Amino acid sequence: MPAQRQPSLVRRATMVVNRRAGALKRTVQQAHRRGGWSTALTEGAYLFGELAARPARRWREQRLERRWNLDTRADTSVPHPDPGAAAFDDAVRYSPIPIHHFERLLRRLPLDDPRDYAYVDLGCGKGRTLALAAQHRFLEVTGVEFDTRLGDIARANAYAYAAAVPDAPAITVHTIDAVDFQFPGTPSVIFLFNPFGADTLKAVANNLMKSLDDEPRRVILAYFNPVHADVLEACPVLRRTASARHWTIYESAT
Ligand SMILES: C[S@@+](CC[C@H](N)C(=O)[O-])C[C@H]1O[C@@H](n2cnc3c(N)ncnc32)[C@H](O)[C@@H]1O
Repeated sequence: MPAQRQPSLVRRATMVVNRRAGALKRTVQQAHRRGGWSTALTEGAYLFGELAARPARRWREQRLERRWNLDTRADTSVPHPDPGAAAFDDAVRYSPIPIHHFERLLRRLPLDDPRDYAYVDLGCGKGRTLALAAQHRFLEVTGVEFDTRLGDIARANAYAYAAAVPDAPAITVHTIDAVDFQFPGTPSVIFLFNPFGADTLKAVANNLMKSLDDEPRRVILAYFNPVHADVLEACPVLRRTASARHWTIYESAT
């Protein structure tokens, strides 16, 4: 079979530009159908900014990963974890949060001093947010991941980060179903990047309610890509205190 020729750099760049121009056109057309020209302009300007900033953001992510010896990149073509490993079969596949989104969210958390709060990522994947949360100086940092392969990678990343930043707060990774996680009894920030469906989220919210009943304390729940926000909206001990295009923040009503 003849060897396939690689497209030239110019051809690849043209393909990327065409793909992005196509995405931009589709977004503007859909926004126009939804809400007219003002929505189309807002959505188009937003997407244009995102696409223009993408190479610089990717470069920064790679630089941080190299500096701390992490590998938190998205997986391609790895098998789904065993569905029996969790109480409900509604897990969302691993995909790391873009660092700039997480940093923006950290800045919007209603905290005086992160050192008074434990940080927990429910569905931590390879642990990207754990290093960033440690860098933000939370009291302690915990990841919960039910997929053993991802949990092992998150632990390796936590060791690598601790070696690169020796005075950072401790990072612990639990390889368990989020439904079985016992919340820390201290004031906490709980982070979720749309890790699972409504069934698991309901069970997790019930655990949190019981835990707050036993030990009333301030808990801030940051939900990125809040696909099942209705579950948390219905939770009597939580109230929504902020939201933006990509996330919603809830606080315990204690
Ligand atoms: C969208 S990824 C988010 C990864 C990480 N939080 C981040 O922001 O970079 C969702 C993760 O949740 C994990 N997950 C899904 N269901 C879970 C469950 N029931 N218990 C613990 N982890 C779960 C998935 O394996 C996946 O790694």
